[in-house]
Amino acid sequence: MTPGAAILETNVHGKAQPLGGYEVLLCVTGGIASYKSAELASRLIQDGSAVTVAMTDAARRFVCPLTFQSISRRRVYTSLWRAGEDYSCRHISLTELADLMIIAPATANIIGKMAAGIADDLVSTLVLSAAGACPILIGPAMNTRMWNAQAVRANVEKLTAWGITVVGPDEGYLACGAVGPGRMAEPAEIFQTATELLLRNPPKRQP
Ligand SMILES: Cc1cc2nc3c(=O)[nH]c(=O)nc-3n(C[C@H](O)[C@H](O)[C@H](O)COP(=O)(O)O)c2cc1C
Repeated sequence: MTPGAAILETNVHGKAQPLGGYEVLLCVTGGIASYKSAELASRLIQDGSAVTVAMTDAARRFVCPLTFQSISRRRVYTSLWRAGEDYSCRHISLTELADLMIIAPATANIIGKMAAGIADDLVSTLVLSAAGACPILIGPAMNTRMWNAQAVRANVEKLTAWGITVVGPDEGYLACGAVGPGRMAEPAEIFQTATELLLRNPPKRQP
């Protein structure tokens, strides 16, 4: 039996909660596909996972934090510099609590920062603090020419070699009107891979 599949709770509606007890840290970066991450958050929550959302400044230009706050029923983190009420260092504590960090959509920018070890905002700092704390899954999304750029290809190869799970991108119609690779993988596909990664281990937080 998969370790995390031992407890199959149900919610008040009788729906199975295979992800009960798990904590997902969902980081949203600045691409058009960021609206799709609201559906991903909802899928995770419907299956019992708790979801905490962190957003970059660019992501907030596309989707309002209130959307994720309403879905996750939790505060949304948008800055390194706002102290929590408990004064803990969120850039470290959020990954300590998380069973999985998902970055979706993952922009060319965050992929580049991850490959270079740059930590100049909350999401990129969380990436570094995930080392040894939780696995990372990314769902890249960008224009086809950006996806094909040598720098992006090399960065994605690097992340894959480091054990980061990359889901997508899909091929198809892009918001810029082009057709080709670069569409963020569907939330259902990212959800499926996230579930597999989560269920490899029991939740960190035991009931
Ligand atoms: C309308 C618009 C759409 C964009 N879509 C994408 C995208 O899908 N993927 C991407 O990598 N960058 C996209 N960008 C560029 C990023 O928003 C930009 O590189 C930004 O610095 C990313 O910051 P972040 O990685 O901190 O969120 C877009 C920019 C604009 C203005």
